[in-house]
Amino acid sequence: MRSTRRSSLDITHLPWDSELFGIKVYQVSENVTLTPARLPRLIKELLDNQVDLLYYLHDAKRSRDVYTLTASGFRFIDTRIVLNIELKSAKITDTVPWFQLVKRNAGQVNLKPLIAMSKDLAATSRFSADRLLKKTLILKMYKTWILKSLEFEMADYWFGLGTPSDPFTFVTFKTIRPGEVSLSLIATRRDLRRKGYGSALLRHAFQALLAKKVNRVRVGMQLTNTKALAFYEKMGFRSVGSWYIFHWHR
Ligand SMILES: CC(C)(COP(=O)(O)OP(=O)(O)OC[C@H]1O[C@@H](n2cnc3c(N)ncnc32)[C@H](O)[C@@H]1OP(=O)(O)O)[C@@H](O)C(=O)NCCC(=O)NCCS
Repeated sequence: MRSTRRSSLDITHLPWDSELFGIKVYQVSENVTLTPARLPRLIKELLDNQVDLLYYLHDAKRSRDVYTLTASGFRFIDTRIVLNIELKSAKITDTVPWFQLVKRNAGQVNLKPLIAMSKDLAATSRFSADRLLKKTLILKMYKTWILKSLEFEMADYWFGLGTPSDPFTFVTFKTIRPGEVSLSLIATRRDLRRKGYGSALLRHAFQALLAKKVNRVRVGMQLTNTKALAFYEKMGFRSVGSWYIFHWHR
């Protein structure tokens, strides 16, 4: 989630997560590796600053450090895998109706099916794998994420299948840099899964993104979500790296 403040040891305050969970949440900044030599100073700083929860992604290539991390109170949550796809123009033959939401028509979307899908997104998230976090707050997090995506605060592109009044699959993307987006949220209504809808929507979304000069999509996900992994791999996404997700709680 969005971050603001940086402390001396490359940890970043996460105001959104802090407000939601009602505790002080930080993350270890990107590209910072917690080596065994660095840990004692970091733990002291976390305690001095009364940090309640720290997120950390540790490069899976450095598996030798895992023992020291767990011995220092870092809880292993899951493995994060990042996948990429280079977009290519293609002719689409799917006949299922699709739509794109923009600021102008976002208010017309029926929230009920989206909120129902937020439960599945919450259940497959890394937060649900941390039994110290309250399930109700994780649900609230995903519901808020969906609402803020409809306000285009947490999404730059929003596509759905069906109609705005009856969406049954949706996907959102956020710009990372010119020409590249990250796939943020995707879900198909539970009773309509495995019918080709998720892939049909991505095919439409990819062509619409190409028309906006976006040619690469990245997605970060949990390795334990094997269904979604099979889905992304079938769509042509390929893994570019993996990280161990750790949460440290005071
Ligand atoms: C991931 C998700 C969006 C896929 O949507 P979907 O509409 O069911 O996907 P499709 O029917 O287009 O599936 C396309 C392919 O993906 C793979 N796939 C999809 N669901 C699968 C499952 N449950 N088990 C194994 N493979 C699966 C299959 O290869 C499938 O092709 P096939 O049915 O011809 O074998 C859906 O499962 C979902 O909403 N999951 C919950 C939310 C979630 O996990 N989101 C991703 C967070 S990273």
